[in-house]
Amino acid sequence: ASNTLFLLPGDGIGTEIMAEVEKLITHLNASGATDFAYDKGLVGGCAYDAHGAAISEADMEKALAADAVIFGAVGGPKWDAVPYEVRPEAGLLRLRKDLGLFANLRPAICYAALADASSLKKELVEGLDILIVRELTGGVYFGEPKEITDLGNGQKRAVDTQVYESYEIDRIARVAFDLAMTRGKKVHSADKKNVMKSGVLWDEVVKQAAKDYPEIALTHILADNAAMQLVRNPKQFDVMVTDNLFGDILSDAAAMLTGSLGMLPSASLGAPDPETGKRKALYEPVHGSAPDIAGQGVANPIAMFASFAMALRYSFGLVDLATRLETAISDVLEDGLRTGDIMQTGCRKVGTSEMGDAIIAK
Ligand code: NAI
Ligand code: MG
Repeated sequence: ASNTLFLLPGDGIGTEIMAEVEKLITHLNASGATDFAYDKGLVGGCAYDAHGAAISEADMEKALAADAVIFGAVGGPKWDAVPYEVRPEAGLLRLRKDLGLFANLRPAICYAALADASSLKKELVEGLDILIVRELTGGVYFGEPKEITDLGNGQKRAVDTQVYESYEIDRIARVAFDLAMTRGKKVHSADKKNVMKSGVLWDEVVKQAAKDYPEIALTHILADNAAMQLVRNPKQFDVMVTDNLFGDILSDAAAMLTGSLGMLPSASLGAPDPETGKRKALYEPVHGSAPDIAGQGVANPIAMFASFAMALRYSFGLVDLATRLETAISDVLEDGLRTGDIMQTGCRKVGTSEMGDAIIAK
């Protein structure tokens, strides 16, 4: 088949929520809507138990060959003491690095049925649909030097270095503009150019790239003001592009405007292949392996389904099917079905597989 998926369920609830997406894939293939060929591998603690590595070389090759990697979650107390290089998270970091995933897409969508549950006023979040585009492979988390030195006088000095080259800014800006062209054609670029040289360059390169997108309304915003505005009036935003550090913080804040960790999808994209134009991509829920509820069949599979909807849209151009899946999620919530993490009075509590079945049926 031309469309290949590589599923990496991982640990804890990762396997439980991936089982629901597998049901969906089987259903879509059987109905003729898709022709996915898919394979499954091990990542995280389960891969360490099987191979002594957080992901095997054979599975890395399959991930590199696939059109899209669908990732569950990794980690758990069982592996808290394993050596640092083979800890569960190392599997995800290796995938990000080898697939060159520099663009992290974090939507914050407010489902109408859950608007009441937001910590903000209902009218501020109802209908909210923001996409934060975070640079994922550069900036202060990776810049050198990165060290703690002993100053010898009882004092120490810690150094992290924020480094951005213009090509890194240009390519993430273009991802944001391309996405904005399929949405509201509005982009906010957040940096701290008032106090950081990397912010000055960020703003310069983003504005230069924007010249190729005359239809986009580009607005500069200082990152601290962006945090304030996200909480004050989030609906003013459509797409927001920002660096690794600010994006980490702003995307977590934006996500929480709308509800539970169990609802939040993400996508990470690489550069387009020069021949095919296809980007390497990994789709995963924002949450972790939730050891506290693992194995009980109660995990919310919606973040996993919503991540799969992003795969349909961004890796396979199946925009209508992606929208139908997102509508199915919304409809099931309207019907009053809830997993424990999003339970509200008057709603019906269901487990992972009943929620999955209901979404697939829609
Ligand atoms: P977590 O996201 O696994 O859980 C935080 C809380 O949210 C828990 O109470 C959990 O039960 C709940 N929760 C999360 N997802 C849920 C879902 N789908 N349905 C219902 N409830 C849900 O974060 P935590 O507890 O900090 O980490 C647990 C493990 O996961 C650790 O080993 C951590 O390293 C790992 N982790 C892995 C990530 C990944 O694979 N990308 C991301 C974050 C954490
Ligand atoms: Mg974070």
